[in-house]
Amino acid sequence: MNMASNSCTYPKLTILLIILPLVSSIDFNYPAVFNFGDSNSDTGNLIAAGLGEDLDPPNGQTYFRKPSGRFSDGRLIVDFLMDAMDLPFLNAYLEAIGAPIFRKGCNFAAAGSTILPATASSVCPFSFGIQVAQFFRFKDKVQELQAKSRKSDKYIPAQDYFPKALYMFDIGQNDLAGGFYSKTLDQILASIPIILSQFEDGIAKLYDQGARNYWIHNTGPLGCLPQNIVKFGTDPSKLDGLGCVTSHNQASRLLNLQLHALCKKLQGQYQDANVTYVDIFTIKSNLISNYSRYGFEQPLMACCGYGGPPLNYDSRIACGQTKVLNGSSVTAKGCNDSTEYVNWDGIHYTEAANQYVASEILTGKYSDPPFSDKMPFLLKLKF
Ligand SMILES: *[C@@H]1O[C@H](CO)[C@@H](O)[C@H](O)[C@H]1NC(C)=O
Ligand SMILES: *[C@@H]1O[C@H](CO)[C@@H](O)[C@H](O)[C@H]1NC(C)=O
Ligand SMILES: *[C@@H]1O[C@H](CO)[C@@H](O)[C@H](O)[C@H]1NC(C)=O
Ligand SMILES: *[C@@H]1O[C@H](CO)[C@@H](O)[C@H](O)[C@H]1NC(C)=O
Repeated sequence: MNMASNSCTYPKLTILLIILPLVSSIDFNYPAVFNFGDSNSDTGNLIAAGLGEDLDPPNGQTYFRKPSGRFSDGRLIVDFLMDAMDLPFLNAYLEAIGAPIFRKGCNFAAAGSTILPATASSVCPFSFGIQVAQFFRFKDKVQELQAKSRKSDKYIPAQDYFPKALYMFDIGQNDLAGGFYSKTLDQILASIPIILSQFEDGIAKLYDQGARNYWIHNTGPLGCLPQNIVKFGTDPSKLDGLGCVTSHNQASRLLNLQLHALCKKLQGQYQDANVTYVDIFTIKSNLISNYSRYGFEQPLMACCGYGGPPLNYDSRIACGQTKVLNGSSVTAKGCNDSTEYVNWDGIHYTEAANQYVASEILTGKYSDPPFSDKMPFLLKLKF
């Protein structure tokens, strides 16, 4: 990759000159990234926390060759975005062993997390408010170390990285998904302003601490995940034209509408900040709807699961696990070619799908404000 980009310095510059005057462009020159979210961007926190969750092969097989703390066969959207920004993959805040390096940022996202505070029955205790608190502790600790000596400089961000960094968010999906197990659709829709006011609260705290660049992903089409189709879509009248659960997608859409409005409000309120809203819902819906155009063969069925077509998902047995069901031992195995599948394990996307989503994000067409990245040629090479 580096060789390719070096040898192409001249064409890259040429394109820069052509593109720049035409469109407003985003400065991808961030010294560091701090990420907050759920399994869509968790690079190892939930697993490192040791709460009993584990990932078995074939998770991670496509890129890392072993489970990497990510719920996928390979890289996540955040990994592709880091790559596009020429930054290393984000280390998980809770990963203590193996000399984690946080010079270029830190990932606080944890699988299963919600915006609203976790309850006793939550999969993950690290809700958004906790993740923000972890960031403050991280920042304090960095300040303390820097005051003492320069010895840690290689491992921790420089002081001026904090205001210059990109703060990324991809959270809210589990607030909705969890709601459907105990609430009516109306109750869930009514709870969205409460969820988002909690989100706003975290953003305000980060702003007070100097965060200025916000990159906020909206939530994907929740009703298109096999987990929800199997549980809530047994009655065909509950499904839309794509085979996705209508109520779940309705909730996603309303959350996104209000999240978009919140982003606009924040941009107005914080004149010295940049708030970018990214429409993941549209990118993923388009992928699921028009999958064959993008080189996929299975828009909904999980690659790694148990049960076979049409969805290959059984909530009792996670990807890679072997269990006795009905008296016989069965394994949730991976498919032969994950690049043909959009869905990895019934809840998360394959690396191939994540790569597609990241490349669509980088077109700048799905954000508000829209942007054109300054390095289209370089980015194309990387994908
Ligand atoms: C916001 O974006 C504009 C245009 O990319 C840039 O000039 C400005 O420095 C950014 N503001 C902050 C606070 O980074
Ligand atoms: C699928 O592609 C068609 C044609 O480009 C487009 O009109 C439609 O919006 C796409 N589907 C989704 C869900 O985006
Ligand atoms: C378990 O076995 C019973 C009886 O043979 C059958 O009706 C049922 O569908 C089986 N369930 C599963 C999940 O295989
Ligand atoms: C996977 O590949 C093996 C060996 O080539 C083949 O026997 C099997 O039928 C394939 N499975 C599927 C689901 O395509």
